[in-house]
Amino acid sequence: MTQTGITERTAQDVAKRVFIKTYGCQMNVYDSARMADLLAPHGFVVAASPRDADLVILNTCHIREKAAEKVYSELGTIRRLKAAKAGRGGRMLVAVAGCVAQAEGAEIMRRAPCVDLVFGPQSYHRLPDLITRALRVTGTGILDTSFPAEPKFDFLPEAAAPQGVTAFLTVQEGCDKFCSFCVVPYTRGAEYSRPVARVLAEARQFVHGGVREITLLGQNVNAYHGEGPDGREWGLGALIRGLAELPGLDRIRYTTSHPRDVDDELVAAHRDVPQLMPFLHLPVQSGSDRVLTMMNRRHTASYYRRITERLRAARPDLALSTDLIVGYPGESDEDFLATLDLVEEIRFAQAFSFKYSPRPGTPAASGAAQVTEQVKSERLAALQLLLARQQREFNESCVGRVLPVLFEKPGRHEGQLVGRTPYLQSVHVAAAADRIGEIVPALISGASANSLSGSLAEVIST
Ligand code: 5AD
Ligand code: SF4
Repeated sequence: MTQTGITERTAQDVAKRVFIKTYGCQMNVYDSARMADLLAPHGFVVAASPRDADLVILNTCHIREKAAEKVYSELGTIRRLKAAKAGRGGRMLVAVAGCVAQAEGAEIMRRAPCVDLVFGPQSYHRLPDLITRALRVTGTGILDTSFPAEPKFDFLPEAAAPQGVTAFLTVQEGCDKFCSFCVVPYTRGAEYSRPVARVLAEARQFVHGGVREITLLGQNVNAYHGEGPDGREWGLGALIRGLAELPGLDRIRYTTSHPRDVDDELVAAHRDVPQLMPFLHLPVQSGSDRVLTMMNRRHTASYYRRITERLRAARPDLALSTDLIVGYPGESDEDFLATLDLVEEIRFAQAFSFKYSPRPGTPAASGAAQVTEQVKSERLAALQLLLARQQREFNESCVGRVLPVLFEKPGRHEGQLVGRTPYLQSVHVAAAADRIGEIVPALISGASANSLSGSLAEVIST
């Protein structure tokens, strides 16, 4: 859970304050930043707390069950703040956005009457208009979970430059894959790719504002097929090559990808484009072909092996990350062992693993052979033990190496900065604060489960 990266402005002449709380994935982080950009010309400044805010937006995630429950519990707190403000003669508008809004808009209105406004990920470009309408009415909420014919990106203002040295940039949205456990095709809708020129313009703007690393975002980002300036469709590999030509953009990443959409052009980009970082998040979900078929993943375990071999041949230092689900309906002990085998074989530098959680409206939710909670817990514990060992081993293998580190922010201790290696590991290094934004070689001297430590390893010329 994160708050938007936008810092609070203190313009005295602007009265309205918006607090945005972001749940879930990086695409939501990007969307929250765009909502703030959209509201700025309407006199809204971003507030650091919901207390006294004129507008509170919860930008929600529906991918797993707990995320929705967290929203309802947060709405309990917001309801009290709203009542307190009303007691002082003020008014607080409460909005629920994102994928929970899309999936259960009417249910939210029913369960949480303090909510004035519900809108989905595809209609937030209408936010100023929705707010105007909500201010006119009291008592009844406004619900907009349509999938408008117009792509919202055409209606969003230019993105303001992010505050930091790294930024997310949404290039693709929605998904046509329909994995049987996943709500995304229902909440985010059909696949859409932004035109290349728009992506390049936004990236240029970011770099101009001091960004040195951009992560291209999409629910299925390597399905990207945006209209190119030459009138032809560009895939993700071509887009990455185009971005690599921007002076000052030193690092490019992308997430999240699907094994089926790793094409030759993308593999070649990993080989040829030095700015493309050697770290790839490539979800596999399961190592059992039987389960992968039931999941409608459209790939087998050996297909995944082949793709990772090709990627590693193109970029030998490539580190891999993945997503895994345990306890999918019908998953047997043998299926689970196949997942452990695949993980042993591929060796992940990092991974996210989840217990299967039935999502209403998805085909798997009504699957008869639901796995018991106890079995899910046992499998998850065994898998996470293996993944943690692999992550620790990967981190330890970096000790003694000199790695380029992009310093992002001050560390917890005085005189320390935190940066990232090409493999996305956090590194703590003693360095002066004015080095934030620089990419500096660091000698890695220590490794823990989740981060590294090191010291500056620059060659000082006399
Ligand atoms: N249950 C558990 N995990 C899920 N994911 C998506 N839907 C579900 C679900 N119903 C996981 C997948 C996906 C990641 C973003 O969340 O592993 O890749
Ligand atoms: Fe969901 Fe990813 Fe499958 Fe699309 S490819 S349905 S986003 S898990």
